Parts: sequence; C-alpha cells; structure tokens
Amino acid sequence: MKMKNALHRFDKPTRLRIGIAGIFLLFLGGAMLVLLPPNLPAEASRGSISTGAPVNFAFTQPLPLALPLDARKVALGQRLFHDARLSKDDTVSCASCHSLGTGGTDNQARSVGVAGGVGTINAPTVYNSGLNFVQFWDGHAPSLESQIDGPVNHPQEMASNWPQVLAKVVADANYPAIFAELYPQGITEATVKDALATFERSLITPDSRFDQFLRGDANALNAQEQRGYALFQSYGCASCHQGQNLGGNMFEKMGLMGDYFADRGGELTDADKGRFNVTGKPQNMHEFRVPPLRNVALTAPYFHDGHAHTLEQAVVIMAQYQLGRPMPPADLNDITAFLRSLTGQYLGTPL
Ligand code: HEC
Ligand code: HEC
Repeated sequence: MKMKNALHRFDKPTRLRIGIAGIFLLFLGGAMLVLLPPNLPAEASRGSISTGAPVNFAFTQPLPLALPLDARKVALGQRLFHDARLSKDDTVSCASCHSLGTGGTDNQARSVGVAGGVGTINAPTVYNSGLNFVQFWDGHAPSLESQIDGPVNHPQEMASNWPQVLAKVVADANYPAIFAELYPQGITEATVKDALATFERSLITPDSRFDQFLRGDANALNAQEQRGYALFQSYGCASCHQGQNLGGNMFEKMGLMGDYFADRGGELTDADKGRFNVTGKPQNMHEFRVPPLRNVALTAPYFHDGHAHTLEQAVVIMAQYQLGRPMPPADLNDITAFLRSLTGQYLGTPL
C-alpha cells in the first residue's frame, strides 16, 4: 500500500501525529458539511458577526418565502378558521384564541372559550405551527390535522363535536359548492381538517430582520441584536431553541437546573405535568415541547402557564432554570433585542 509505505518514512510518534491530524481533518470536513447546509446562499455562509463570534448556521435557517400550497384550499381553510359555527353555540372561532392580528395568540395566560370557560394552558401561536414536529405543549397531536380534534371537542374551547360541525357546514349557503369543487368526497371530517390544516401551513412569517441577516444582509441586525444573537448561542439557548422555528423540534424539561414549579408557587396543575400526561413515564414529568421563538415579541404572556408577563422575565427564568446561571442586565438586553428581531411578515406585511 503506497500510503503505508510513505508513512513508514516517519518515526512512530510522527506517524501517530499524522494519524491524529488526519482524523481531525476528517472530523472538520464532516462538521463543515453540517455547518453549511446546502440550501443557504453562499454569501450567508460567509457572514460574520461584528462581535467576532463565529456565525453558526447549524441551529437554524431562514423561513421559506412561500410554500407550494393549493390557494383555493388555503382560502377555504381561512374561512373555516374564522367561522364561529365550529363551536357549540356559534360564539367562538379558531381565530378567537389565535388572532392573526395579535401574533396568532390571544395574549392571555389562559384562553376563554364557549360560555366563558377558562382553559388550563396558554395558547401558542398558530403562525409557523406547520414547522413544529408535533402539536401542543405536551406534543399529544402528531399533526395539524389531528390537532383540530382538540379545540373542537374541548369543553372549555369550542365544546362541540364533529357531527354538529359537519351539519352546520353542510347547511351553509356556500360551503357545499366550494368543497365539491376541491374534494370529490365533499364535506367530511377529513376534508374540513385538510382545509384548516392547509390554511395553517400557509401561516408562515418569512423575512424577519433576522432572516434577512441570515440571507447575507449584514446590516439587517444592529450591533446590539448581533451581540444578542451571539449570546443566544454562547449561553446555550440555541441547544434547545433550534431548527427553522427556533424551537418546536424537541421536548425538554422545564426546570433542568432548579425546581421552577416549587419556586413559582401555586397549585401544581395537570397541565404542569407536560409530556408525562401523554406517556405516563416519570422521566417525562414537566417536559414540554420547546416553544418556537419566531414572533415571540408578540406572544406574551409566556410559558405553558402564562406565568412570565414580559420577554425579559421569560429570559431571566430561562437562564436560571434551564442554564443554571445568572444573566447580567447587559446580556439580557442584548438577547431580548435579538429576540425582537425574529418578528416576521405575513403575506408581505410585518406582523
Ligand atoms: C378557546 C381558545 C381556543 C380555540 C377556540 C382554539 N384554540 Fe387552538 N389552542 C388553544 C390552546 C389553549 C392551545 C394549547 C393547548 C395545549 O397545548 O394543550 C392551542 C393549541 C393550538 C395549536 C398547537 C400549536 C402548537 O404550537 O402546538 C394549533 C395548531 C391550534 N391550537 C389551532 C387551532 C385551530 C385550527 C382551532 C379551531 C378549530 C383552534 N386552535 C381553536 C386555544 C384555542
Ligand atoms: C434545556 C432547554 C432550554 C434552554 C437551554 C433554553 N430554553 Fe427557553 N424554553 C425551553 C422550554 C422547555 C420552554 C417552555 C417552558 C414552559 O412553558 O414551561 C422554554 C420557553 C422559553 C420562552 C417562552 C416562549 C413562549 O412562547 O412561551 C422563551 C422566550 C425562551 N424559552 C427563551 C430562551 C432563551 C433566551 C434561552 C437562553 C438564555 C433559553 N430559552 C434556553 C427550553 C429551553
């Protein structure tokens, strides 16, 4: 073997060093492949942060500017999303709790449904929800389609059921013709879900200033936001809040480095148990799907219990209970400035 013969010209320690260097180079090559995903434009991968910190594109990517969806199904789903007849007494629509004008949430700690019923958990945004690996804080719905059973049947949300919903949709003056055009099966539970889920998938919010920065516009973030971006990575926030949605792709325990629930006080609710409610396994106690941080400036109050009222409070709690370290005010200001740059656009208009 030529390689082996060539190496024999060196003494043993040198051969060892060459071997180690070779392994290191292989590792570096592998890491480069991961760090520079092929779908990024070349300029973006050359970007650097003015603080001198290396830019790590591995943990997130810009949102797509548009998705290939059937525009007619999107329009039908949009109509259903705003239709209060999906609820028992025709008073509550999906948009009642997920208003598109307020970040896709209701900005309440707990949502109010039919007949003033108060729910048990904070409403997450519907924007970019199609990017999350599962739906709900505890991940109990594997898809947007199956998620819809939740609000329709939930006694504190729409308090309805599918036979009732379908009867109202069938009796409408316009729906039957629209459905007949789009779905050979007409109006069924599955087609109503398909239209709603297609609309939800269309709710992407591209072109935030952060995404413009990722795409190579070095001036899209100011110096403070760029420092915040670097700190978001160096503190380790990005180890959980990662992927295109800066979250929504793994479960993590709330209170890794301290007992959040004991310190918060109040009663421990079923909702506080998180993923445990789905699996029944003790190791999943207090685990939640890491929430996505896109548009987070608009979705207060924060956490599954709506306990944090401001972004600053939420980040201080994160530093203490997830990372186990205090965060000086200067770092806090930089990180929250960065988080505010994650607000995107819906259909070309800033949220
Ligand atoms: C009464 C308020 C209310 C109504 C009405 C409502 N939702 Fe929700 N929605 C919530 C709450 C609260 C949650 C969180 C529940 C949980 O995680 O256990 C949620 C969760 C979701 C999620 C999951 C988001 C995520 O990131 O996990 C989606 C998607 C969603 N709702 C869509 C809808 C659709 C579609 C409708 C109409 C069919 C609807 N919602 C009606 C309050 C509401
Ligand atoms: C170990 C994983 C982990 C780390 C590290 C982490 N987070 Fe979180 N983050 C979570 C989880 C889980 C939640 C949801 C907790 C809950 O609702 O009880 C969350 C919630 C949040 C929220 C509230 C979002 C919402 O919609 O309610 C913000 C803001 C946030 N994190 C920012 C940060 C920042 C900034 C850092 C770094 C300083 C950070 N996180 C570090 C896992 C993590």
